[in-house]
Amino acid sequence: MLVAFMQSQESDLEQLVGMRIVAMRESLERVGRFDARRARERFTSTFNPETCYRIVADGRTIGFFSLDRHPGVHTLRHLYIHPLWQGRGIGAQVLKRILADASRRGCPVNLAALRESDANRFYRDHGFEQTSEEDWDIFYTCRPKSITPALLNSKLGNIRWLCRADIQHLDVVLRQHVRDLHSGQVVESEIAAIKTYMAGAADDEGRYRSYLVACDSTNIPIACMGLSRPDSRMSAHVLLNAPDYLELLNVFVHRDFMRTKGIGRSLLAAVVEEAKAARAIGLLVNSGPRYLSSWGFYDRIFDADHGMLVDYYGTGRHAKVWSKLL
Ligand SMILES: CC(C)(COP(=O)(O)OP(=O)(O)OC[C@H]1O[C@@H](n2cnc3c(N)ncnc32)[C@H](O)[C@@H]1OP(=O)(O)O)[C@@H](O)C(=O)NCCC(=O)NCCS
Repeated sequence: MLVAFMQSQESDLEQLVGMRIVAMRESLERVGRFDARRARERFTSTFNPETCYRIVADGRTIGFFSLDRHPGVHTLRHLYIHPLWQGRGIGAQVLKRILADASRRGCPVNLAALRESDANRFYRDHGFEQTSEEDWDIFYTCRPKSITPALLNSKLGNIRWLCRADIQHLDVVLRQHVRDLHSGQVVESEIAAIKTYMAGAADDEGRYRSYLVACDSTNIPIACMGLSRPDSRMSAHVLLNAPDYLELLNVFVHRDFMRTKGIGRSLLAAVVEEAKAARAIGLLVNSGPRYLSSWGFYDRIFDADHGMLVDYYGTGRHAKVWSKLL
């Protein structure tokens, strides 16, 4: 199951503190150090909503992590999955996505784990090596196995998870592309809907979407791609084992950066890493007549096409479908 990362806000603090206490209670009690008040204070005094992401499954917050990304090194300060959601591979998925993000910047990820905590085994299993230890904590680092340049064009910025502030910047990009096929008018209702998905709302199919963005050198997003489970009509159409696939959605690159700069290709490579971390075996995508000019991109980057989904976007508006194995 793909989980979404939603940048947290000040108002999330109480919920996150509660989750931290629930998730840490057992291992802190084991070393006789559980103190709810201290756990609360330690978290609230350092809480930074900008660097903290809620982990969301089917619209519910099931955990969170806090990641300081300084140039040259990332530090994972907190990672908690609510006990009810533990043991389902979600922690591993989150950690792999955090490591993929660091390897796009060529950075190691550092962290500390409480000496008696089961988390030590979890981090070691994912390639973290001990660097030092103190009375209560063991310190680890994980260096990227390979440096995956985030964007093929080094003059551009980075690829990262969508932040709340990105939504308003992406408005420009959406307005360039989300236009009526015949009149060329901006389709306001569709843009508004996409922005709600970016802000964490469910779509008409009850799906939640996880977004990556590519940024320019000033960290302003210039492209986006969303991921979700495939919608039911598409799953029925491809007759693949759709639960093992994820669907690529809302694929848009700023007009000034389209073609030849490799943004679409680079962003898709990062999306593939996210999908693999969620244990998907393939990606599906469809594109309707409005985006006919992008079909060549999918023909080039995806492995197979699956013909047309008839009337998918309304009468006579068929969508072409592609798949890509991961
Ligand atoms: C389609 C889109 C996402 C592709 O992203 P991009 O950054 O322009 O593409 P890239 O520069 O990464 O191109 C990757 C490869 O695909 C090829 N390619 C890209 N767009 C293509 C197109 N429309 N037709 C044919 N080939 C195309 C490139 O030539 C390149 O090939 P190469 O690496 O072998 O030289 C982008 O052009 C876009 O946002 N288009 C408008 C919105 C849209 O139609 N979105 C799709 C909605 S379903």
